[in-house]
Amino acid sequence: MAKFVPVEPFDIVIFGGTGDLSRRKLLPALYHRWVDGQIPENSTIVGTARSEMDIAAYRAVAREACEKASGKSWDAAAWDEFEKILHYVTIDATNPEGDWEGLKSKLTSEEDRPRIFYLATSPHLYVDICRALGAVDLSGGFSRVVLEKPIGTDLASAQAINDGVAEVFAERQVFRIDHYLGKETVQNLMVLRFANILFEPLWSQNYIDHVQITVAEDLGLEGRADYYDRSGALRDMVQNHLLQLLCLTAMEPPNDLDDDDIRTEKIKVLKALRPVTEADARRLTVRGQYAAGIHAGQPVKGYVEELSATEGSKTETFVAIKAEINNWRWTGVPFYLRTGKRMSSRHSDIVIQFKRAPHNLFGEQFGNVNKLVIRLQPDEAVRLYVQIKEPGPGGLRVKSLPLNLSYAESFMLRYPDAYERLLMDVVRGNLSLFMRRDEVEAAWRWVDGLIEAWEASGYTPETYPAGTDGPMSAAMLMDRDNRSWWKEN
Ligand code: BG6
Repeated sequence: MAKFVPVEPFDIVIFGGTGDLSRRKLLPALYHRWVDGQIPENSTIVGTARSEMDIAAYRAVAREACEKASGKSWDAAAWDEFEKILHYVTIDATNPEGDWEGLKSKLTSEEDRPRIFYLATSPHLYVDICRALGAVDLSGGFSRVVLEKPIGTDLASAQAINDGVAEVFAERQVFRIDHYLGKETVQNLMVLRFANILFEPLWSQNYIDHVQITVAEDLGLEGRADYYDRSGALRDMVQNHLLQLLCLTAMEPPNDLDDDDIRTEKIKVLKALRPVTEADARRLTVRGQYAAGIHAGQPVKGYVEELSATEGSKTETFVAIKAEINNWRWTGVPFYLRTGKRMSSRHSDIVIQFKRAPHNLFGEQFGNVNKLVIRLQPDEAVRLYVQIKEPGPGGLRVKSLPLNLSYAESFMLRYPDAYERLLMDVVRGNLSLFMRRDEVEAAWRWVDGLIEAWEASGYTPETYPAGTDGPMSAAMLMDRDNRSWWKEN
C-alpha cells in the first residue's frame, strides 16, 4: 500500500478553471489526493474563468471531469465531501479592476497558509495575471505561482515572461511545471541511478555506447491544431520533456535532494549540449510530418488535412536528433532523441546501450547486448538485458534476456497522475521537480539554435505515413552509425 502523508491546509486558485487542462488533469488530481486523505478538509479550491457560472454549474462541470478521469475508482461519497471545498469566481484575471474582492472572500486569511495561483491559461496572459495579483496585494510571502508549459516560443519570449513574472514573484515562489518530472518512472530514474551502486561506475563513456530516448505518440492533433501548428514537435516536446529526460539521465549525482542541487546539475548538462549548426542540420537531425496512413486499423488523415489548412504547413510532427554532450563523462556518447505524433504505438523509453565486452569468447551470436531499458509508459518497467546460456546439452548458445522489473507486477496500486505529485509538491514548497528560470532559458537557447539551423539550411519536414515510426531518414540517422532504434520484440 502506498503511504500518503497529508499536506498542510492550503488555498489554490486555478485561473482557466473551466479549461481543458483543469478538466483533464488539475481537478481530477486534486480530487484523487482528497480521496486518499492527503488534502485537509479546511483547504480551499477556487476555479476561476471569465464566463459567468454559478457554483452548482461549476461543481457539475468538475464532477463530470473527475468522474470521467477516475473510471472504476470513482467514489461518489468522497466527491460529495470534496465539492464542499470547491468554489468558483467569475473574473478577468488580467484586470486589476476585476472582482478581486469576490476572489479574496473565498480565500483564508491565515497569513502563513500556502496560497497557490495556478495559471492554466494561455502563456501570453501570464505576465498580466501576475501583475494583477501584485496590484491587488495577493503576491506576498506564502503565495506561489504555477506556470504551465510552454513558457514562450523561443528564448526571447521566455525571457520576457520570466522578467514579467519576476517583477511580482521571487524565483522561490515560481513553480514552472514540466509534467514529465511528475511521472513515477521519471522520478525512479533518479532512484535507480543514485540509490544503487551498480550503475554509477558504468555510467559514462567508458562503458556506454549510446543512449536512446524515445517519446512516441500514436495520436494526432486531438483538437489542438491552432496551438500545435505554431509550435511543432521540437518546441512542444523536445524543448521540455525530452531535454528533461536527457538531463536526468546524464547529470552528475547531486549533493542532496535539495531543489537547487538537482536543478544545478541539470543545467550543467543543458549548457554542455553541442549546438547544432546549419552544416549539421541534416546530418544530426530529422524533421518529419505525418501524411495519411493507418492508425488502429483505420485510415487516418495526414497532418495538413487534419489542420484543414488551405496551404501546406511546414510544422514538424516528428523530430529525431543525435545530440552530443561535451563534457568529461559523455564526450563520444551520442544521445539519440526521437519523438513524434501518429507513430506506430504510444511508448516512452530510455535505452542505455552498453559497449561490447572487450574479448569475444562466443562467436557471432555474441552481440551488442547489455542494455538497460527504462520503459516510462505505458507498461512501466525496468529491464536489464544480460547474456545467458540457452539451456541444452549440446553446443554453447548465448541469448540476451531481460532481468525484468515490471511495476504492475511489483506494485499493485493505482498509478497517480504526474499532476497529483506536482500539485502536492507545490503545497509543500518543494521546487526540485520544477524548472528554474535559467534551466528553461538554457533549453530554449539550444532549441533556438536548432531552429535557426533548420531555417538556414532550408530543411523542411520529410513526410512519413501515419502509423509508422517516422521518415526513413530517422532509421538512416542510426544506420549511418551502425546502430538501430530499439524495438521491443
Ligand atoms: C504535452 C504536449 O506537454 O505532452 C502534448 O503538449 C503531448 O502534445 C503530451 O501529447 C504528452 O504527455 P503524456 O503524459 O501523455 O506522455
